[in-house]
Amino acid sequence: MIIGIGNDHAGTELKLEIIKHLEEKGVEYIDYGIAPGEKIDYPDAAKRVCKELVSGKVDRAILICGTGIGISIAANKVKGIRACACSDSFSAMYTRLHNDANALCLGGRVVGPGLACQLVDLFLETKFEGGRHQRRVDLISKMEEEF
Ligand code: RB5
Repeated sequence: MIIGIGNDHAGTELKLEIIKHLEEKGVEYIDYGIAPGEKIDYPDAAKRVCKELVSGKVDRAILICGTGIGISIAANKVKGIRACACSDSFSAMYTRLHNDANALCLGGRVVGPGLACQLVDLFLETKFEGGRHQRRVDLISKMEEEF
């Protein structure tokens, strides 16, 4: 599995911590984000990664802004993206189990590096349950066609 990572300027520090964590675990990733000292608006940061996710170049995304919220709203505008802003482990696990989320959004001003890495692990390691949840995810895809 290849992870695409993106961040705006409020997420740079946390991104570097997450990259360190992924490297320690041997998880393959591509960094589409900005470096320390650079600036980008969170919708553009989301777009850079989401287009690679829907094209299949990467398998999951981790997106970081100040709150995790702006970048999740932007990411969810891209057809095929199911992004969830999480700051607790239950949500990070259940957004995989029930929503088949493909993008985890984190707030660099909300969660510390320890919790963020735990959320990343849950997001990457938890499998979608399918079954009745597949039907609901299909309804989301249908909405993308309707509106
Ligand atoms: C940038 O200052 C900040 O507004 C952004 O990172 C994010 O928190 C928006 O939701």
